[in-house]
Amino acid sequence: MYEFHYRNNELWCEDISLSEVAEKFGTPLYVYSKRSIIDHCREIEKVFGEVDHLSCYSIKANSNLNILKIIAAEGIGADAGSIGELHLALKAGFSPDKITFSGVGKRDDEIEFALQNDINLFIVESEEELYIINTIAAKLVKIARIQIRINFDISASTHPYISTGERHNKFGIEQMYAEEIFQKALQLKNIEVLGIHTHIGSQITDPETFIESAKAVVDLIKVLRNKNIQVHELNFGGGFGVQYHDFVKHELLPTDEEHVDSKLTTVKLLEAALPVLKASNTKIFIQPGRSIIAHTGVLLTKVLYRKTTSEKTFIIVDAGMNDLIRPSLYKSYHQISPITIKNSEYEIVDVVGPLCESGDYFALNRSLNYSERGDHLSIFCTGAYGYVLASNYNGRLKPAEVMVDGDKYFLIRDRQSFKDIE
Ligand code: LLP
Repeated sequence: MYEFHYRNNELWCEDISLSEVAEKFGTPLYVYSKRSIIDHCREIEKVFGEVDHLSCYSIKANSNLNILKIIAAEGIGADAGSIGELHLALKAGFSPDKITFSGVGKRDDEIEFALQNDINLFIVESEEELYIINTIAAKLVKIARIQIRINFDISASTHPYISTGERHNKFGIEQMYAEEIFQKALQLKNIEVLGIHTHIGSQITDPETFIESAKAVVDLIKVLRNKNIQVHELNFGGGFGVQYHDFVKHELLPTDEEHVDSKLTTVKLLEAALPVLKASNTKIFIQPGRSIIAHTGVLLTKVLYRKTTSEKTFIIVDAGMNDLIRPSLYKSYHQISPITIKNSEYEIVDVVGPLCESGDYFALNRSLNYSERGDHLSIFCTGAYGYVLASNYNGRLKPAEVMVDGDKYFLIRDRQSFKDIE
């Protein structure tokens, strides 16, 4: 499952030493484990057993083509959020009948592209979008299959930027209009209404939230069925949280007393919701992103400088917020440890990047093994929403990406060069 581990004092990914990879390709560098990607897909599939379902990997979490090919080869589906992601899904080999299209703001050309490629279905987020899809489908002489996203006004205790299921959020159609929108959709000639979709947010770690949300959808399906509206599919979205603390352990690493291993797993979250969902007698869809890919990647970086002020010690590294924005944007925690553990001299430091923003940091007041210029550090659990959110801010070139497969490793994306920023 977790393919990043220490052998003696050296960090490895599968059967490869990460010092070697960092030396060969330079830093900052994203490194992924193929075995871990496959394991995560299979683990999720196993929870469903014989249940009629389709898991659609949420491409926005990590859209590297090589990674998409690995996931497509597992036979699961993909959820795209833009024409670019639709293109990548098709190119990676996902079968069109396993591709779904989400998003509140689909452009006409994106809808057309999806219809022309006969994707499985659209997730519709507003009444106006419903009519536009119907019109475009009529023009192309196609039938658009849809699920309708309902907003159940459920609060997910996560960062407000990634909570999506509350009334004040832009997502979905308010529950009180659910029947009305289904009735309207059923009148449209080029629309086939298949089911309900809900997605209440990301990095949700409380099983109760999933149970509450599952009950809300299943109850609505009952209400609709009582009104003679058929609902064949229930799309439960993504959002399954992952453990970020205490990811790797070693006797010489500082212990994270505050966050003892929570043993949080996607399997447990899914297992909590599944019995409720199953009662709906529908085909169940999910759209896992982070839960498939977060734990499969790390960001490697090199210490450039140490800087001590009267208040703090800064470890200035060669990766910045343009490479990994999660700490700056959501105050997210990512475990950081040396690739080669040389000592157990802990110090409290801020690990910061080179950009001209005080928000450019990876850790604040963090206990870290003493590190100095030239040392490599690993920033863990950065497979999801890492590279995809990278930018060229401050004229910085986006990092390279490497895949480890057993005792082999290879580039799956080149480091950018000057021509990419010209
Ligand atoms: N389905 C829909 C409709 C979504 O909008 C998303 C993510 C997912 C599924 C996948 O959610 P996941 O299983 O990965 O939680 N950049 C943020 C996360 C943004 C999530 C956006 N939507 C972060 O770094 O935490």
